[in-house]
Amino acid sequence: MKTQIISLPKYDDPRGNLSFIEEENHIPFKIERTYWIYDVPGGQTRGGHAFKEQQELIVALSGSFDLVVDDGQVKQTFSLNRSYYGLYIPSGIWRQMQNFSTNSLALILSSTHYNESDYIYDYNDFLNMRRQNETKYE
Ligand code: TYD
Repeated sequence: MKTQIISLPKYDDPRGNLSFIEEENHIPFKIERTYWIYDVPGGQTRGGHAFKEQQELIVALSGSFDLVVDDGQVKQTFSLNRSYYGLYIPSGIWRQMQNFSTNSLALILSSTHYNESDYIYDYNDFLNMRRQNETKYE
């Protein structure tokens, strides 16, 4: 599955709305880890790397931010500002998070435990990895 916005279930209710995510149902992976990014000072960016294996779903639970994703050939920017949309990012994608609004809260569901050796921090290493694994990464 390619990088794409996933519409999550949304129960509109005068008492307050409700959304949810089920692993291997709304997202194509089992959730091994959840983390969240918050209290981001104005103008700061997060990410700026790729993962060899990790897949993610990123949801703006509160506020808004932009995600710039790059498969080595095409760069796309997704603006997240609704808690019922998630951006699915498969493995092997360079990403950066930016333009965080005040009090924004980013929830990230990950397919792996934290593993530092899964990170690629150098953009040229990333491009080489994409070239060497044409069939692995769609
Ligand atoms: P990092 O993934 O580099 O942040 P981002 O890409 O969002 O800017 O993580 C920052 C630090 O937090 C890193 O040094 C290790 C730690 N960390 C964990 O220990 N566990 C985790 O699940 C994550 C995501 C980060």
